[in-house]
Amino acid sequence: MNSQKHVVVIGGTGHLGTYLVPRLVEAGFKVTNVSRQKREAYLPNKAWQSVTQVGIDRTEAEEAGTFGTQIAELKPDIVIDMICFTLDSCQQLVGALRGKVSHFLHCGTIWIHGHSTVTPATEDLPRQPFGEYGIQKSAIESYLMTEARQHGFPATAVHPGHIVGTGHLPINPVGHRRLDVFEKLARGEEVVLPNFGLETVHHVHADDVAQVFMQAIFNWSQSVGESFHAVSSGALTLRGYAEAMAKWFGQEANLKFVDWETFKANDPDSDATWDHIAHSPNASIEKARRLINYAPRYTSIQAIIECVEWLIESGEIKI
Ligand SMILES: NC(=O)c1ccc[n+]([C@@H]2O[C@H](COP(=O)([O-])OP(=O)(O)OC[C@H]3O[C@@H](n4cnc5c(N)ncnc54)[C@H](OP(=O)(O)O)[C@@H]3O)[C@@H](O)[C@H]2O)c1
Repeated sequence: MNSQKHVVVIGGTGHLGTYLVPRLVEAGFKVTNVSRQKREAYLPNKAWQSVTQVGIDRTEAEEAGTFGTQIAELKPDIVIDMICFTLDSCQQLVGALRGKVSHFLHCGTIWIHGHSTVTPATEDLPRQPFGEYGIQKSAIESYLMTEARQHGFPATAVHPGHIVGTGHLPINPVGHRRLDVFEKLARGEEVVLPNFGLETVHHVHADDVAQVFMQAIFNWSQSVGESFHAVSSGALTLRGYAEAMAKWFGQEANLKFVDWETFKANDPDSDATWDHIAHSPNASIEKARRLINYAPRYTSIQAIIECVEWLIESGEIKI
């Protein structure tokens, strides 16, 4: 059914593309990956043999004003933009693709929400983004939804949580990426958490994000002009996350709770923790379930454990 359709994935060899591109090939699409051709997908898959590789440096091409035209010249039916971070960048691409594609899918982030006011946050809540990354992603989403709803540009936005999968370090129970936190939990050693450990993180397996993109494509009439969270079925509190990991290692969690200022003064990666707990993401997947039949295969803990097992096997987590 889809064999005639050409999908161009911009930035298709990263965490998400590793899972999404093989799914597209298996579904019968003709697939082109656009990247600088510096890296390959994390996991081997025969599907990559049938993917056309096109080398373009987006940053350079945008400076030259040619990026949108170069993508349009590939004659895609569907464009999946994995690596758009500014409104200008998005506008340049949309300007070149208007009237030329049947579907345009943008990869955003749950950081568009800033802090949540109601949890789990739904896609229709007013945005309160902070930090340049979230502000730009929110502006991109807003622009794309206006383009879709008022000007007929067939855009969908997909907003992943903290992506977990082989090749990618997970956000840990302290809210940063240092692997010694997992090692301490594995040995029953003390782990220090900020506040009461009740702020949240919301992970998702990269393959479940890929599923949201696929379901959005397969349910075109429901997904155009809409944005969807791509997260697991439930966010974790830092405390709940630490306790679940300790249990998985066969230990009782040995947790100490300190106020934010004490935590900040003693943890060298507290900036990353701040970014995560200041957002404390907790996003709903009900809209994706209802409109495009999203059914995540992994809970947060299942996705994280798959990643931790890989890190243990590769010797990066020493237990
Ligand atoms: N990481 C997270 O937890 C997280 C959470 C929420 C949302 N997101 C969103 O997920 C998206 C990133 O997806 P990802 O994690 O799969 O990306 P990734 O692993 O960083 O991979 C980036 C891809 O883009 C290519 N690329 C990088 N710079 C390029 C350039 N200048 N020109 C052309 N290609 C370039 C890379 O290949 P080459 O190096 O070969 O060019 C690769 O294919 C972003 O939109 C981000 O906002 C991520």
